[in-house]
Amino acid sequence: MRVFVAGASGAIGSRLVPQLIDQGHEVIGTFRSPGNAERVRALGGQPVALDVLDGRAVREAVLKAEPEAIIHQATALAAVRFGRSLDRSFAPTNRLRTEGTDALLAAAREAGVRRFVAQSFASYRYAREGGPVKTEDDPLDPAPPAMALKTNAAMRHLDEAVTSAGGIALRYGGFYGAANDGLVRPVRKRQFPVIGDGGGISSFVHLDDAATATVLALGHGGAGLYNIVDDEPAPMSEWLPVLAEALGARSPRHVPLWLARLIAGKGMVMMAAGSRGASNAKAKQELGWTLRYPSWRQGFAAAYAAAASADGRASDPARGVGS
Ligand SMILES: NC(=O)c1ccc[n+]([C@@H]2O[C@H](COP(=O)([O-])OP(=O)(O)OC[C@H]3O[C@@H](n4cnc5c(N)ncnc54)[C@H](OP(=O)(O)O)[C@@H]3O)[C@@H](O)[C@H]2O)c1
Repeated sequence: MRVFVAGASGAIGSRLVPQLIDQGHEVIGTFRSPGNAERVRALGGQPVALDVLDGRAVREAVLKAEPEAIIHQATALAAVRFGRSLDRSFAPTNRLRTEGTDALLAAAREAGVRRFVAQSFASYRYAREGGPVKTEDDPLDPAPPAMALKTNAAMRHLDEAVTSAGGIALRYGGFYGAANDGLVRPVRKRQFPVIGDGGGISSFVHLDDAATATVLALGHGGAGLYNIVDDEPAPMSEWLPVLAEALGARSPRHVPLWLARLIAGKGMVMMAAGSRGASNAKAKQELGWTLRYPSWRQGFAAAYAAAASADGRASDPARGVGS
């Protein structure tokens, strides 16, 4: 297929483009930052500069590319400093998930694109009640913390707009597998503590496995939501020490809930302490997905072996170390 990948130069995009090409697809890959054209070309894609928030430019680029499929992986989280308000940190990404998705869907309709797959997110979204692991049929959090209302609404918009247009929204777990993953620096600096009893559950996925699932979703077609997460949703008290060890960092600190609320804010603590994990059963069954890293236990070690052996010195942030 001729596949238009929005966000081809990013963490997931750069794993996805080579896998698409290996499967015989032709890729038109968009980038945003000047200088990333060469990156997309080196991955095997045909680079196109595009701001997904510019509706007219999206229309032009898609009509010109004449793709049979569109994959939306554009986010704006690289280099974001996460503060007390998730909505502030995610503001540009929320626009990419609402206005950007709508622009790509409109262009897809006009260009007669048959398949549409988009990046959504699984962790911290399911209702903070009942069992620890949720399927796609389980309800989303009906009352997200005030500082994450817009972020949750943007992901919900993407899920609904894409599936009602006949496409697939992939609710990925927390991405890892590159030297510049979001958690690397804070965990190294012991700035990411275990909160309370560490019982909040997270789901992760290695970038290579996330890319494999995306290629399968493209081939599957149809409308639907899929959790793209590994086999082992786990409480913070379990995964965080393993991550620290994989990074060659000292064990994480522990902070009581009251102190965490003071430092990070009530909303962040509500999410971290109450979060539920996600089940990948549907993706395995319907997409035939198998994981190279079924658990973060092997995945963290594989991803960060090079970084840890460099004794904490930063490795090339542009280079993935997971494969
Ligand atoms: N995905 C999530 O929900 C999430 C949540 C929390 C933390 N993180 C962390 O954030 C980091 C990166 O996340 P990621 O993999 O989602 O993204 P990423 O690696 O930053 O890739 C984002 C892609 O979107 C493109 N892009 C950005 N703004 C755009 C715009 N206005 N129009 C069109 N394209 C645009 C970027 O282009 P250029 O690169 O060319 O600028 C890039 O190709 C990771 O370390 C991850 O751990 C992600």
